[in-house]
Amino acid sequence: MDAAPTEPEPEPAEPPVPAHGVGPWPGGPDAWPDDPRYDPELLAAGDARNVVDAYRYWRMDAIVADLDQRRHGFHVAIENWQHDMNIGSIVRSANAFLAAEVHIVGRRRWNRRGAMVTDRYQHVRHHEDVAAFAAWAESEGLPVIAIDNVEGSVALDRADLPERCVLLFGQEGPGLSPEALVAASAVVEITQYGSTRSINASAAGAVVMYEWCRRWA
Ligand SMILES: C[S@@+](CC[C@H](N)C(=O)[O-])C[C@H]1O[C@@H](n2cnc3c(N)ncnc32)[C@H](O)[C@@H]1O
Repeated sequence: MDAAPTEPEPEPAEPPVPAHGVGPWPGGPDAWPDDPRYDPELLAAGDARNVVDAYRYWRMDAIVADLDQRRHGFHVAIENWQHDMNIGSIVRSANAFLAAEVHIVGRRRWNRRGAMVTDRYQHVRHHEDVAAFAAWAESEGLPVIAIDNVEGSVALDRADLPERCVLLFGQEGPGLSPEALVAASAVVEITQYGSTRSINASAAGAVVMYEWCRRWA
């Protein structure tokens, strides 16, 4: 093994060109499929969106309707008191792992950059505060599973992740608020081995959503 220290690569001047995408539907308008889910503009111009191949050339509302038929039983919630940059990435992972819905608790505005437009395919609901969020979860019969590494939390591999639940994440810095921890029926932590106190919230989101899917999807 080469033990020499690695040099950081120089920053690219521009983001790399995405390697995905298709051109206009081959054969022109006469060959277009007769299916209302297809979007004539995309059939004519090509589809460079970051969607799986099964949804190429589909209208966005047709994709959302199709996802709605098969969404999973878990929801994702995150506290938003400080415009946390992780929220966009959590929304993107929620789309990838097909969460039922994403819930923003606290400030209504959130930074959409990390979502890479996946929020258009995801139902995102806002709750004024933890009390409103907890009341909604109770009315839906959904247990709130807090995800944080705090005193008394249970390791993810030993924790119960119900088929219908809300996975609630905290913010960079403070983590989950005391009110959020009180609203939860369980607190689950991802086991770590290094020196850092925590991983970032969106990384934690991806780990726990993956684990829910491993058990239930
Ligand atoms: C940066 S952490 C902050 C709090 C952390 N409790 C601490 O002691 O520093 C922000 C959020 O990421 C998630 N998170 C980060 N690392 C985690 C871990 N090892 N287990 C569970 N959740 C984690 C939690 O949702 C947490 O609220």
